Amino acid sequence: MTRSPLPRITILTGAGVSAESGLGTFRDKGGMWQTHDLEALATPEGYARNPGRVLAFYNDRRAAAAEAAPNAAHHALARLVSAAPDRVHLVTQNVDDLHERAGTPTLWHMHGELMRARCSDCGRSWPETGPLDLADRCRACGAVGRLRPDVVWFGEIPRHLDEIADALSETEVFVSIGTSGAVYPAAGFVAEASRHGADTLELNLERSDVSRLFEETRLGPATELVPAWVAEILGD
Ligand code: OAD
Repeated sequence: MTRSPLPRITILTGAGVSAESGLGTFRDKGGMWQTHDLEALATPEGYARNPGRVLAFYNDRRAAAAEAAPNAAHHALARLVSAAPDRVHLVTQNVDDLHERAGTPTLWHMHGELMRARCSDCGRSWPETGPLDLADRCRACGAVGRLRPDVVWFGEIPRHLDEIADALSETEVFVSIGTSGAVYPAAGFVAEASRHGADTLELNLERSDVSRLFEETRLGPATELVPAWVAEILGD
């Protein structure tokens, strides 16, 4: 039986929630930023220097995300948000679309979306599941060679920060799932939620850089911890 009403909950997810769907994380052993050059692939300067290399990297990631399927953690979170979309907010740092494909009705992609293309000239964006090519033309303004994935790179401003700040100011429970706490502003959300009096819970494979800021940390794989926590919250 669903507890009624549910508390106000803000959930932050990171790469760890998609790890068991086969998508790599960034800072674990063998993670993306251990084997690839972050500066060359995830900054506006890297794109300006070598756009073809950057497009190829994200084309590979887009293809991998398209092949991956949502796991039990994505499905459990979709069930929780669907139970009370006005009280439960999902914020993700992930650029994949696995939360949507699990059925999450609304979420904030603070680091943008891999499955969208954007024109660096006019700023328009649109859904794009296939590879981007340097010779592609912008659908809106016609510029050639200016397309990029619609993701947020280091040095750019994350999305939805006003909505997230509002959610954190009202939330009664803040839960962080599968994120190392290495990248701000997301790593600062636990302190923000605590300041507003929220209960704070971390679900992660191992202790993160910010574990000490949470009231409770549960360690284990997301596909086990998340469905169990959602069942607790929904009272089933
Ligand atoms: P990280 O790779 O930094 O951290 C992933 C976290 O997930 C680690 O703490 C792991 O212990 C944990 N983890 C791994 N497998 C897990 C599993 N099966 N279940 C639960 N937890 C697991 O990834 P993020 O914190 O998401 O930004 O990285 C934050 C941002 O840095 C990303 O959004 C991206 C990256 O550079 C940009 O590209 C702007």
